[in-house]
Amino acid sequence: MQARQAALHLLDAVLREKRMLAHVKVPADGAEAARASRLAAQVLRQIGAADAVLEPYAMRKPQLAVQNILRLGVVELLGNDEDAHGVTHELVSIAKKHPKTAKASGMVNAVLRKVIADGPEAFAAAPAQRVPPWVDKALRKRIGADGLRAIQEAHAKAPPLDLTPKEPGFTLEGAEILPTGSLRLHGHPQVTALPGYEEGAFWVQDAAAALPVKLLGDVAGKSVLDLCAAPGGKTMQLAAAGADVTALDVSEPRMERVAENLARTGLNAKLVTQDAFDHTGKYDAVLLDAPCTATGTIRRHPDLPFVKNGREVEPLTKLQMRLLDHALTLLKPGGTLVYCTCSLLPVEGEFQVTAALKRHPDLRVIPADPITLGGEADWASPEGGLRLFPSHWPDRGGLDGFYMAALRHS
Ligand SMILES: C[S@@+](CC[C@H](N)C(=O)[O-])C[C@H]1O[C@@H](n2cnc3c(N)ncnc32)[C@H](O)[C@@H]1O
Repeated sequence: MQARQAALHLLDAVLREKRMLAHVKVPADGAEAARASRLAAQVLRQIGAADAVLEPYAMRKPQLAVQNILRLGVVELLGNDEDAHGVTHELVSIAKKHPKTAKASGMVNAVLRKVIADGPEAFAAAPAQRVPPWVDKALRKRIGADGLRAIQEAHAKAPPLDLTPKEPGFTLEGAEILPTGSLRLHGHPQVTALPGYEEGAFWVQDAAAALPVKLLGDVAGKSVLDLCAAPGGKTMQLAAAGADVTALDVSEPRMERVAENLARTGLNAKLVTQDAFDHTGKYDAVLLDAPCTATGTIRRHPDLPFVKNGREVEPLTKLQMRLLDHALTLLKPGGTLVYCTCSLLPVEGEFQVTAALKRHPDLRVIPADPITLGGEADWASPEGGLRLFPSHWPDRGGLDGFYMAALRHS
């Protein structure tokens, strides 16, 4: 009961209050809390399919709390093959407990029973959930309807757990070693219980997010500024690769996470809590993992499409442009800048780079070779960067959407 009740609380926070799940406390403990988060995420990933199944039964659109009970029921019954009697019984009890939903408990019971018998076909046939219109608009012209469909299908699935090992050669039972060097685990492993966690043998980082540091090449002994560093995934990679790292971020609480991560992994970096625009100095390399819409992480954060509305795209792209220009001033002659974002939108990736080339006539892209990084030839983007989509490596479990490019003054 605890997990389902908590999952409904999370769904309400996202769908009614427009809050990101990361900012909502899960009203459950331990394994029940983890299960609640998984269930809520699953409903958000498959809400379109659930609503398609429920449509024939809804005479009037029920209020959101009832709708969410029904959606959770559909996803569990048809998506997870859960014990039908147990799920229905529990969701009806939850509905009865709350004054707002009590009156609808009979309807919940009747609809869920019908869904078990009549719903599987509609659930299987429902198209994968659409990306928000502002993402659709930005992508459709570039990748077409088929490309979008493939991304939507990737978004509908729970992603695997990717880890970056501190030392090459470290592995875990059941882990796949990806050609790019990340470890990949399927199922729902509890990260903190994995062997090697306490000793800091690895950290959680999507395989795509581990590529920008690799794009910098050999950083051993070089001074590298991680300009937007928190929570520190790339800082740890740089330190593990032997760089002399300065990790900077404007957010004090987030810098505390960097410090904790470095302490757990026994890695070193100079920590600076500062606005990037106030930072001066010269480095052999700068990594700019700029703040962005994070639309590349929708499969890990299925709440994002329900909370964000695209209004932040313009201020973010302006900030990215200013950060990129400032980052270029922090390079020693011959130094390399890697610009990256975990966004699906070209305005936060490819277009930032082509615009920077126009603003700085002496700037050039060092063409990225996806093959030497362990990737696929079609990850290469025409201007010389790498463009990754969740639909890449579908048989391996996909990748977060990412863009990255290495730049140098000629
Ligand atoms: C995409 S996240 C960085 C993720 C990080 N590189 C990693 O791999 O773990 C972007 C970061 O930029 C930081 N940020 C935003 N504006 C900034 C600014 N003006 N100066 C410095 N950091 C900034 C945010 O606090 C946030 O931590």
